[in-house]
Amino acid sequence: MNPFSRRDLLLSSLALSASTLIPDSIQRAHALLLRYPAPAPAGVLASRQRLLFDFGWKFFQGHGSDPARDLGLGTGQGDFSKSGEFWFSTQKFDDSKWRDINLPHDWAVELPFVRDEEQNSHGYKPLGRRYPETSVGWYRRTFDIPKEDEGRRIILEFDGVFRSALVFLNGYFIGRNDNGYAPFSFDLSDFLRYGEKNYLMVRTDASFGDGWFYEGAGIYRHVWLSKTSPVHLGDWETYVRPAVKGNAATLSLGTVVRNESNEPVTCSVLWLLFDAAGKTVAKTVSAEQKIDADGSARFAANASLANPLLWSPETPNLYTAEVSVEPQQDRHDLHRYDSQRINFGVRDIRWDADKGFFLNGKSVKIRGTCNHQDHAGVGAALPDRLQDFRIAVLKDMGGNAVRTSHNMPTPEWVEACDRLGMMMMCETRLMSSAPEGMAQLETMVKRYRNSPSVILWSMGNEEWTMMFQPQGIRAIDDMIRRSHELDPTRMCSAAVNTAFKTHFPEQLDVMGFNYNLQEHDDWHRAHPTKPAVGSETASTVSTRGIYSTDKLRNWVSAYDLNHTAWSQLAEEWWKFYAAREWLSGGFAWTGFDYRGEPTPYGWPSINSQFGIVDMCGFPKDNFYYYRAWWGSEPVLHLLPHWNWEQRNGEPISVWVHSNLDSVELFLNGKSQGSQKVQPLTHLEWKVKYEPGILEARGTKDGNVVLTEKRETTGDPESIRLTPDRTEINADGEDVCILRVEASDKEGRPVPTADVPILFKVTGEGTLTGVGNGDPNCQESDKEPRRSLFNGLAQVIVQSTRTAGTITIVAHTGDWPPPKLPPAQITIKTKKVDLRPTVA
Ligand code: GAL
Repeated sequence: MNPFSRRDLLLSSLALSASTLIPDSIQRAHALLLRYPAPAPAGVLASRQRLLFDFGWKFFQGHGSDPARDLGLGTGQGDFSKSGEFWFSTQKFDDSKWRDINLPHDWAVELPFVRDEEQNSHGYKPLGRRYPETSVGWYRRTFDIPKEDEGRRIILEFDGVFRSALVFLNGYFIGRNDNGYAPFSFDLSDFLRYGEKNYLMVRTDASFGDGWFYEGAGIYRHVWLSKTSPVHLGDWETYVRPAVKGNAATLSLGTVVRNESNEPVTCSVLWLLFDAAGKTVAKTVSAEQKIDADGSARFAANASLANPLLWSPETPNLYTAEVSVEPQQDRHDLHRYDSQRINFGVRDIRWDADKGFFLNGKSVKIRGTCNHQDHAGVGAALPDRLQDFRIAVLKDMGGNAVRTSHNMPTPEWVEACDRLGMMMMCETRLMSSAPEGMAQLETMVKRYRNSPSVILWSMGNEEWTMMFQPQGIRAIDDMIRRSHELDPTRMCSAAVNTAFKTHFPEQLDVMGFNYNLQEHDDWHRAHPTKPAVGSETASTVSTRGIYSTDKLRNWVSAYDLNHTAWSQLAEEWWKFYAAREWLSGGFAWTGFDYRGEPTPYGWPSINSQFGIVDMCGFPKDNFYYYRAWWGSEPVLHLLPHWNWEQRNGEPISVWVHSNLDSVELFLNGKSQGSQKVQPLTHLEWKVKYEPGILEARGTKDGNVVLTEKRETTGDPESIRLTPDRTEINADGEDVCILRVEASDKEGRPVPTADVPILFKVTGEGTLTGVGNGDPNCQESDKEPRRSLFNGLAQVIVQSTRTAGTITIVAHTGDWPPPKLPPAQITIKTKKVDLRPTVA
């Protein structure tokens, strides 16, 4: 069992006393985030500009089959006959009636629900070829490019668009990108109007999907405009590969310089390495090379770091490499062609077939979760702060790893993992060695190979057909070979099910088991030299705050009692993995609930019930099972709530998740017995219900160190709003995450409250979205109203770019009773340096 320090005990009792009846994930997540540095402001280096292109767009819902409602595109044959005649991306087009939006944007989350079983994966949102009127979205942006930019390379970069983007600029067709998860870019330099207005149009079409889960629709990740010299660093070509040797690290450095000018250039590459405090810790220069006009060259160098601060989930130390292309001195002024900053970490990882995973020489069990990018109120379009928040919630649970199921992640999710200390199994969308699959894989590996959080590449998930065919073996071999070429420091895996007896898994560096505990030991005996990880486990199902399964209401009890046919309880899978040293740990399906795949029920459920936390990040009870056995704090969690008016005198099943020595349970001061905690196991009592106070007292080394109560509350009498922070950045990006509860007259949150609440947001902020974690709730995510679900709802409010205050009022308005007095809260938004943006 875990040894706890005095500080751990103090911390956990503070957290518990602050949380009383409904434990508070939002404040704990925020408190955790305070311990880590904020994201570094984007470094604007003189030679390169990277401008955020998120603000000031216009949006219009086009049409997938009627050209008349899709700007005429596709009316006749000749849409693409001339490259410069796309009038809608010229001055002639009037977009004044289009909707104003900022990116990231997901229009799917704004759509109503449709009862159509074909759409259950999408969370019953009307997307696809049968819903042409809601599956196409046009984005338009007018912007300035100064005269002085002429001669630079100007690149439009999309971090990810769902899906099938067509890009037009100033009447010209620029290019297309089909897949929904890999970033892509276009060089606009030849098509820009320097010193004038420019007209950019992006048509996105979500008629086809990749997933069997909600994927959103539209430009749901950031967009950037980068400006460089014609001689510049290649996209994601730079790598920093640390190897730890004793108390030092050697760094192998490399990049590619492209010469897009009309004459040859001779240049070298300068590497400056900084620690987190900005102190230069190493400097090296790659030998000079001549690069032909329209050519490129690879540059390499080595450096070393004495006594590097190693990266780990507990100590996410980062370093920065500034890499600069330097012209030959006698031909140019001392002016750099291009520079970039890249964060990296120094750490050592090793996968062992007998002893599992090692980080910096120490055995570490992977305590992971799989997650889709999808949150209450915002769908797939997450403000960056929500990425941090979600990682903090998972970390607060004791998690140390995430798997980016089943696609290449958003950069800010990876950056949050690097900065906050969360390891990552990074997965590509398409298991394929055909050009599209290979291009996506290459982009992923190049894009994220400098991230210390990434410990394993995943070539894909459950490719049932190809795993059984020779094509599958050939394809995975090619994919792994290419990954190793681009990144010789990391192993490759894939999430395998069904094909355990085939040769497919033998191709992997690290075996990835999806479920199927009955296969693990045999497989290990047959392949004793292969390391292994549980790429996907659990799929336990539960509804937050519900304590008896009700098939008519699509509720699953939150005791750890339910899973799908192919999966396990939290307690089952973790006991199994914990007992086997050779298994490196695993990734539970899922950390957060997500839209779509509404297992174990269908309509009216619109999201899955697999999450350990709900769509808002409010913990279900299993969260505390994991925290008890994954985390480092003492845990005492008591369930269920104690509002069972209709069950007076009936036996109620009472559970405790705790990692203390023993727990004694009391009802209204009367002992219900004490039980010794068995490792990795919950405690259980049957208690005859009477209203009052249920209390658990947890003992460590003979002393009561934690207590936890559930009190029978009265009816809701007031609304309580609790923000994660009382001050956020006035940058038009930051968000405040508010918890909404209803309290009884003694101020106790009512755990069964389902009061409908309306919100009014005024001042320097807007309402971004609302949620309540109810898998069956079909209220809008975007309207300023939401019912509480089992006592809780969430409101997400985003700042404007003007410093001031935001006032949020919650009231019951004209909605059905109960009528509660309004609650109001004001938060500040503070002036900060804004990220450079496109004018
Ligand atoms: C797995 C699959 C996941 C999810 C899960 C639900 O087989 O990889 O994406 O569908 O089942 O249990």
